[in-house]
This record gives sequence, C-alpha cells and structure tokens, in this order.
Amino acid sequence: MKFFIDTANLEQIAIANDLGVLDGVTTNPSLMAKEGISGEEAVRKHYRAICDLVDGDVSAEVIATDYENIVKEGLVLAELHENIVVKVPMIKDGIKAIRYFSEQGIRTNCTLVFSAGQALLAAKAGATYVSPFVGRLDDISTDGLSLIEDIRTIYDNYGYETQILAASIRHNMHIIECAKIGADVMTGPLSAILGLLKHPLTDKGLEQFLADHAKAAAAAQVV
Ligand code: E4P
Repeated sequence: MKFFIDTANLEQIAIANDLGVLDGVTTNPSLMAKEGISGEEAVRKHYRAICDLVDGDVSAEVIATDYENIVKEGLVLAELHENIVVKVPMIKDGIKAIRYFSEQGIRTNCTLVFSAGQALLAAKAGATYVSPFVGRLDDISTDGLSLIEDIRTIYDNYGYETQILAASIRHNMHIIECAKIGADVMTGPLSAILGLLKHPLTDKGLEQFLADHAKAAAAAQVV
C-alpha cells in the first residue's frame, strides 16, 4: 500500500518523508489556502517546493470547472515537475479532461468521488488515481469504507488499472481497514500515519527491556 500525506504544510511533509515510508503527497485548494498560499505563481512555486522535498507523486488540483480551462490549467501544472499528477474534480467536464490527459500521457487523480458509479466513470476515462473520500462519507453517517470495498470489487471485475486512493482518511484505523480491503494508496494527515506507531504494549515492553538492561549493567559494574 502506498502512503501519501494529505497536506500542503512543508514541515509535516518533511517529517513524514524523513520516516522513509512516504510515497507521495496530495493537496487541495483548501489545504493550500490553509498554508496561506494564493496566486498562481505562489501556488506553482509551492508545488515545486513539495516536489523537491518528496520523491513521489504530488497531486496538484485544478481550480477551473470547464473543460477548456481544466485542460489549460492541467497542462501548466503537469509541466511543473515530472511527479505532478493533475487532480481533477468528478464533474462532467472533469471526466472529459481526464480522458484528454490520459490520451496525452498526463497522469490524473479524479477527486471528490463519493459513489461507485463515479469511480467507474473515472476508470473508464483513464484516471491514474481515483479518490473516494472515506471520512467525509462517515461524517454524514454513511459507510465510507464500504465504498472502497465496492470500488475494489468493480475494478477487479474488469481489470481497471486506475489506483484506488483512499482519501479523507482521518485516523489510523481508517488506514488499516483500507489496507485490509486492498486500497492501492491512502492519503491522510501526519497524525494518522504516526498513529500507526502506537501500541501501549510496545511502550510497556520497551520500558521493561531498558530497565532490565540497566539493572544488568549496574550489576556487572558492582562485580
Ligand atoms: C483528497 O485528496 C483530499 O485532499 C482530502 O483527502 C480531503 O480530506 P478531508 O475530508 O479531511 O478534507
């Protein structure tokens, strides 16, 4: 399973990258705004900075919602770095643009996917990644994880190569469940990735090992 971090914060990206388990980064306009990044040039500069930091796919989202402008914007983003994946919303013009990009060999991430039908369309259009939003479905009292399951079944039935990028991951159990289902990628916050490290028995066991080691070392000094 590939691990992407879902943030535009360079410090958090660097922390995840230093762990040695990071395969890429996803961003969206809200995450860019959260970092105070605005204006075409600043946004492009920020994407370049992320690409310089991480050796992996970096999803850069278009703002346009009509076919011509999605294509125009996507072509500029794709030119920024070879690791840029153009992130396109699941709308009619978005699907058309994904088909166009796919024919041009430009990789895409179809975002804001909330149903199996949308995921099927994204795969047929040739999206590289499809991003079903697990957490946001949970937020409205539906089962985000069952959508991942449905998409896995559909893609496997027909051998679609579009990778399932489980998005809107909120905590470490989401990651585990998506891995059990067979999502190809997950994207989540640093807290969810670091959450995987935690187990009270690990902390307790380590404390005991270190205490026993110190005791044995002290005893050896006495003798
Ligand atoms: C996906 O690529 C989105 O950036 C993201 O996962 C949305 O997550 P949220 O629902 O926590 O905002």
